[in-house]
Amino acid sequence: MRTPIIAGNWKMNKNPKETTEFVNAVKDQLPESSEVEAVIGAPAVDLQALLDAAKGSNLKVAAENCYFEDEGAFTGETSPKVLSEMGVDYVIIGHSERRQYFKETDEDINKKAKAIFANNMLPIICCGETLEQREAGQTNDWVSGQITNALKGLSAQQVASLVIAYEPIWAIGTGKTATSDQAQEVCQVLRETVAKLYDQTTADKVRIQYGGSVKPANVKELMGKEDIDGGLVGGASLVPDSFLELVHFNA
Ligand code: G3P
Repeated sequence: MRTPIIAGNWKMNKNPKETTEFVNAVKDQLPESSEVEAVIGAPAVDLQALLDAAKGSNLKVAAENCYFEDEGAFTGETSPKVLSEMGVDYVIIGHSERRQYFKETDEDINKKAKAIFANNMLPIICCGETLEQREAGQTNDWVSGQITNALKGLSAQQVASLVIAYEPIWAIGTGKTATSDQAQEVCQVLRETVAKLYDQTTADKVRIQYGGSVKPANVKELMGKEDIDGGLVGGASLVPDSFLELVHFNA
């Protein structure tokens, strides 16, 4: 009953011309959005090209970040209001790279989530543990805390519509995927966290992605797990054929 969602996160990897070429290569071969939602998250400088090329197709568009104010003296930031006006559907927030390199806090992520909803878009909220935290047995408490903080003040209806992405930091860009059982275990904990904070109906609706070295070879097994509703994919989303294989994981 939860529509699977496969989202590419290109990070800082393409220019507008490459963006247009990519979309032209995939746009006629995407599944219906009601079967599998296909999303590309691109840098702000590529979003207009992405939106233009994706127009009329089944491809949805995500920004990789935004600020939590709509306008003002915030040099270099990206307005959620403008993203919404452009036609962006999702905004990825709380990625571990933004937490680590740009010092994004749980409080920032919570403010961003609220600003994204206020502008009629949906957040993809990332969480994940370091290898040290996993080895110390802290994973479940850590990710559950990150998501609890990110959701503060959101309504059940809002939470039911958003996406949570579980990305163990040690599996990002390393070729080291969490086993499907490890990924399932944490995604289940995240769903239970939503059930505790809200109710079971909300928890049953929220979509939870796994991210970290997802590729065509492992996507089917991951997607077969009960609490995994999608993938947030870096490297393997950069090549049209590979992105198409990912969104057609159930073919
Ligand atoms: O957000 C996606 C991500 O961080 C995973 O990257 O390259 O391991 O698929 P990758």
